[in-house]
Amino acid sequence: MSDFPKKKVAVLISGRGSNMASLIEATKNESYPAEICAVISNRLDAKGLETAKDNGIQTFVVDHKLFGKDRESFEKELHQKIKASGAELVVLAGFMRLLTPWFVSQWENRVINIHPALLPSFPGLDTHQRALTAGVRLHGATVHFVTSEMDVGPIIMQGAVPVLDDDTPDTLGARVLTIEHEIYPEALALVAAGRTKIEGHRVRIIGCDDLEEDLIAPVI
Ligand code: GRF
Repeated sequence: MSDFPKKKVAVLISGRGSNMASLIEATKNESYPAEICAVISNRLDAKGLETAKDNGIQTFVVDHKLFGKDRESFEKELHQKIKASGAELVVLAGFMRLLTPWFVSQWENRVINIHPALLPSFPGLDTHQRALTAGVRLHGATVHFVTSEMDVGPIIMQGAVPVLDDDTPDTLGARVLTIEHEIYPEALALVAAGRTKIEGHRVRIIGCDDLEEDLIAPVI
């Protein structure tokens, strides 16, 4: 059992929720420093909502469509739901809405996201196709703090996978997803345990200075 109270986390999703599921699994370990107090979706049909319910986690839907173009009201509702759940951290896991500077300022340095590319390469959408088109040998995923600019916040953790000659966006995406499921629980654990320190654009990991391995692809 950890000596510190677990950090309460709200997970925001829009779809299948496989990253959320990997976080739920991690929180089942007694020594994991975070617990999920709510899963919130902007879509009623998000498959991940079922997974959350099956695991006894309370779920909410804040349907962005009900707010039309009024992003502020949508985010105020979202903010209220997160606050009411008692969350101290917000974890975006395939949440497909851009957050405004207002929302980000309410949760400054307390929102993290996972992006399916090695940032700063390939921010935005269609990352696997773009990685193939660009011919990169390594692709991967990035967990980062969220700032009001999309996909540019300080990087907490990255995981890389090789790009193979016969890859399609789907095969490459599946390989990246596997690494996402590894790094997101690890990265959240670091943040929840207070082991991340933002210095300018860099994130220092407290108590971690022995990473020396090279990663080279292709392996021949
Ligand atoms: C993941 O690839 C994640 O990196 C991106 O959206 C996708 C969500 O997948 N932000 P899932 O809903 O977690 O399965």
